[in-house]
Amino acid sequence: TDRTFVMIKPDGVQRGLVGDIVARFEHRGLKIAAMKMLLVSEDLAKKHYEEHAAKPFFPNLVSFIRSGPVVAMVVEGKDVVPMVRSMVGATNPKNSNPGTIRGDFAVDMGRNVIHASDSPESAKREISLYFNTSEIATYKRIDEQWLYE
Ligand code: GTP
Ligand code: MG
Repeated sequence: TDRTFVMIKPDGVQRGLVGDIVARFEHRGLKIAAMKMLLVSEDLAKKHYEEHAAKPFFPNLVSFIRSGPVVAMVVEGKDVVPMVRSMVGATNPKNSNPGTIRGDFAVDMGRNVIHASDSPESAKREISLYFNTSEIATYKRIDEQWLYE
């Protein structure tokens, strides 16, 4: 099965949204394969967002992601990368549909609660930035036969 990297940003943690967000993934039938709370170092923040290094909002993005603890996760499931992106919603919450995480919980682009990988290649890179292989669990959900045909 596929893997993606998900991170609840400092605003999501400070606002007490961790349980609700994790529950959405669990209830969808996706598997939490790894999860931890951490403070993101400057080096890690810059690597995470290196694709945006030349953008004017990059310094704010790096300082925001370091402004409090985050919750990082590896989430697994069939076609999980696009599935989680659709659950997260559009980058700018102004355009995020109700029912998505950003559409239900966020207002402003720079406080959009959650990050999720945008492709399987990004997922692989981001998972390796945040997790050692020994931190990623291998197990079966008991409901897998009811989730997968
Ligand atoms: P992430 O999951 O956080 O990577 O969001 P995304 O993939 O939906 O968007 P993208 O990777 O393009 O941008 C990363 C983050 O930078 C976004 O989540 C926003 O918080 C921020 N961002 C992106 N574009 C802009 C912008 O034009 N202005 C500002 N201020 N912030 C932006
Ligand atoms: Mg992105």
